[in-house]
Amino acid sequence: MSFKRADIDFANIGFQYFKTNANIRYYFKDGKWDKGTLSSDETFPMPIAATCIHYGQAAFEGLKVFETKDGRIVAFRPEENAKRLQSSAKKMFMEPVPTEIFMDALNRVVNANKEFIPPYGSHASLYVRPLLIGMTQQVGVKPAKDYMFLMLVTPVGPYFKNGFQTQKMLVVEDLDRAAEFGLGDVKAAGNYAAGLRGHERAAQQGFTDVLYLDCKNRKYLDESGPANFVGILKDGTYVTPASHSILPSITNMSLRTIAKEDFGWKVEQRPISVDELGNFAEAGCCGTAAVVSPVGEIKYRDTTFKLYDDGKSAGPCIKKLYDELTGIQYGEKADKHNWLYEIKID
Ligand code: PLP
Ligand code: COI
Repeated sequence: MSFKRADIDFANIGFQYFKTNANIRYYFKDGKWDKGTLSSDETFPMPIAATCIHYGQAAFEGLKVFETKDGRIVAFRPEENAKRLQSSAKKMFMEPVPTEIFMDALNRVVNANKEFIPPYGSHASLYVRPLLIGMTQQVGVKPAKDYMFLMLVTPVGPYFKNGFQTQKMLVVEDLDRAAEFGLGDVKAAGNYAAGLRGHERAAQQGFTDVLYLDCKNRKYLDESGPANFVGILKDGTYVTPASHSILPSITNMSLRTIAKEDFGWKVEQRPISVDELGNFAEAGCCGTAAVVSPVGEIKYRDTTFKLYDDGKSAGPCIKKLYDELTGIQYGEKADKHNWLYEIKID
């Protein structure tokens, strides 16, 4: 699309926040959602006893908008994010945001910030961050009556510092990000506060992040702090954990479809024991921010499992998945599954 872009070196940005033109806010009050207002203000008024800040009634989402090779502006599977925000809301007794409001917010906020959409070829994207928070003042622990739904955007590059280089993961046994029957399967803001300890430990020991184990038996792989885990077994099977304490990743769901339906690979979603780490040929972490980042090393207790090329480079299967997914997102490959939602730019 030929419109002026902001003066940003889009090809060299990391995963960071940039001030943009506007965000959009919708308020739920007296039992109904308002029509939403675009605002250039980067702050908002918040009652001092709001449930979101005292009792964690806060959930968010993350999705990306791309400029395709033929100049369209597209979001990747946004209705899935709307649905997941609704399940987060339901589980945390918050007011769900109807899909029509979610899509209205997306169209309006992207249009208001079109110059921040990274141009095709920069390998960057516009990250969209929807947020739902309880706004009612109360000191008793009960659900808020009033809510705010906010959507902000920022241009982003790769989530992990060194882009499509292999990452090192540390398996931890004495830290959890979520409880077995807690909020691990929804995008509760508090899950990310719980994950800071793991991330800090991993970073101090020279790892990218941690891999959590199931919090009951500490025997099965769960996921990483910001992404799902995917392994490629030595026989070529795509294997990813089934667990009710991990986030159902839209990226992982898409990769499973690509692997099974487009590539004809065997795909398994099942509990994966740590004892199987030696059977992996390749591994990756997948998510909106992480895309599919290759994992080269996994340390569990005293053993370091080195994957493809002694952990030095991405294996062929992870690379093929990455190329297919990003190829679809940038409109370079056919969108066979109808995953792209076009945003009309005014
Ligand atoms: N797991 C966690 C904990 C996440 O925060 C994310 C990111 O959204 C994912 C997995 C990947 O989910 P998705 O692919 O829907 O972005
Ligand atoms: C995303 O991938 O969109 C996420 O929300 C992960 C987050 C920790 C950046």
